[in-house]
Amino acid sequence: MVLLNLFHLALGLILLLALLHMVVRIVRHFYKFPMPYFMANLIDHPLRRLIQPPDTTPLRHGIEPGMTVLDVGPGNGTYTLATARRVGDEGKVVAIDIEPRMMERVMRRAQAEGITNIEARVGDVCDLPFDDGAFDVIYMITVIGEIPSFEDALRELRRVLSPSGMLAFSELFPDPDYPWASTLIRKTTMLGFKLKKKIGNFFYYTLVFEKD
Ligand SMILES: C[S@@+](CC[C@H](N)C(=O)[O-])C[C@H]1O[C@@H](n2cnc3c(N)ncnc32)[C@H](O)[C@@H]1O
Repeated sequence: MVLLNLFHLALGLILLLALLHMVVRIVRHFYKFPMPYFMANLIDHPLRRLIQPPDTTPLRHGIEPGMTVLDVGPGNGTYTLATARRVGDEGKVVAIDIEPRMMERVMRRAQAEGITNIEARVGDVCDLPFDDGAFDVIYMITVIGEIPSFEDALRELRRVLSPSGMLAFSELFPDPDYPWASTLIRKTTMLGFKLKKKIGNFFYYTLVFEKD
């Protein structure tokens, strides 16, 4: 009897969470805005690091030592630091976030870890303060779903990507802004990119594009 009650309680909780997730997704579909700053800690936890290990993420994005990389929307910087370690002293990571406090946090963490090859910028992906063709790789981890104008963002990303460069998106399912991989492929390929590789599964996938 107790077991049955516990089972019903767990089922109710799961259904409630699923419903809440669905409602937030519907709202976010129509009303997009950057993740609030107070959530920066919430998205950095051991379970996420287990599913999306920081050290292997740069490999998914095709990042090699010596590259110049753009991290759009680094948030608390967990993946920025891992990417900076991957590109090494000969390379560089430029991180740009629309929320200045995120950038302060990234730089505090970089300083604490003695990482010196990260440059921090505050700005909007739809209006990037960089020269044409400046980056070998550009990546966004659970960011693209927050951007109100996909077309404007992609136009800017294409402009600042080098002719042989790669644009990578990594997405995690519990994110309320999670885009379906097929939708992201369709929309990105309509804007001058072609899919180079798709890695992962429904819950955690990475798409890597190059210029068409
Ligand atoms: C869900 S967080 C992801 C953080 C980090 N990439 C990660 O996966 O842990 C999204 C980040 O994108 C940033 N962001 C949202 N809209 C942006 C925009 N238009 N331009 C630049 N950054 C943006 C937010 O401020 C936030 O730091």
